[in-house]
Amino acid sequence: MTTFAGERPSGTKSEAYRELALMAQGLFAGERDAVANAANLSALLWMGLDRLNWAGFYFLKGPGLVLGPFQGRPACVRIELGKGVCGTAAAERRTVIVPDVEEFPGHIACDAASRAELVVPLIAGGRLIGVLDLDSPDKARFDADDAKGIEALAALWIAASGPV
Ligand code: SME
Repeated sequence: MTTFAGERPSGTKSEAYRELALMAQGLFAGERDAVANAANLSALLWMGLDRLNWAGFYFLKGPGLVLGPFQGRPACVRIELGKGVCGTAAAERRTVIVPDVEEFPGHIACDAASRAELVVPLIAGGRLIGVLDLDSPDKARFDADDAKGIEALAALWIAASGPV
């Protein structure tokens, strides 16, 4: 498999996301296990992006979201659809960027250090299968370029992986 020295991609934000996408493709090559690929993508985001305090997955199981592979502090295990930033992105099937979680009604505070959040829904074959969630201790950490970069990485994970 590809090995990583732990250095962050350099250059502009879109160059960094392109580099992360190449690394993700390397990690997923020949591997269909969704949980293993999710674990490696969480680790890649954690290693490759600065100013994060959480990066990981929630999967749709039955009526709600259940914690999947992640990096960061222990987190809430179950989130109802429509609740918090993750449940909102899942229910509305759209990427949600929250510049300041204190101004997002219903934000679920798993880690008191979180100030900004980006959540991308995971939709495979028209079906919602979960969300990819990033948290930052810095207000306004995530912008439209981050959303585009994370959506592209989520799409690579979906294309590479079998059912969760
Ligand atoms: N803050 C999220 C909950 C998940 S944690 O950030 C890991 C939310 O409001 O949905």
